[in-house]
Amino acid sequence: MNLQDYIRDIQDFPKEGIGFKDITPLLISPEATNFCLETLVKTLENIKIDKVVGVESRGFFFGTLIAQKLNAGFVPVRKPKKLPYETISASYELEYGRDTLEMHIDAIQKGDKVLIHDDVLATGGTAKAVCELVEQLGGEIIQMNFIMELAFLNGREKLGTRPIFAALTY
Ligand code: PRP
Ligand code: MG
Repeated sequence: MNLQDYIRDIQDFPKEGIGFKDITPLLISPEATNFCLETLVKTLENIKIDKVVGVESRGFFFGTLIAQKLNAGFVPVRKPKKLPYETISASYELEYGRDTLEMHIDAIQKGDKVLIHDDVLATGGTAKAVCELVEQLGGEIIQMNFIMELAFLNGREKLGTRPIFAALTY
């Protein structure tokens, strides 16, 4: 199976000049979803993961599936003021301005082995902020995985030496 066949390119979305990678054809296919899930977890065979951290919103789709598969807990990282309990936060740069992500303070215990999942690694700002949240609580990042990496945006450069896996690279 070629995962790329299930990613739809939409030009000029959400803004002029942006080429959007639409994962809904992947999500609508149980076979492709399962193939993607297996591809993402295969690299973690025999590695203990305590928590899978999924990033709102598109990191939630596979985040919970991966957590179930690895018998790990799922932790949502959300946009500001969405989480009901006490939170920690981290900010990151956008093209214009800044944005913030939040996580519950009791989501990760010191020493937890953590997998961070999101759909896309683009400029790396989002992933870097999530690393900061996990590390603030003493979590150990075992891997960051993504359905796809837009390698031409050099997001990896922001993420140091933390292990990164992408099922697809553009
Ligand atoms: C998109 C994508 C990643 C992030 C990657 O999310 O789902 O989370 O951008 O970009 P970066 O590497 O440049 O930070 P977005 O913030 O658009 O929100 P969504 O997932 O709710 O659609
Ligand atoms: Mg996102």
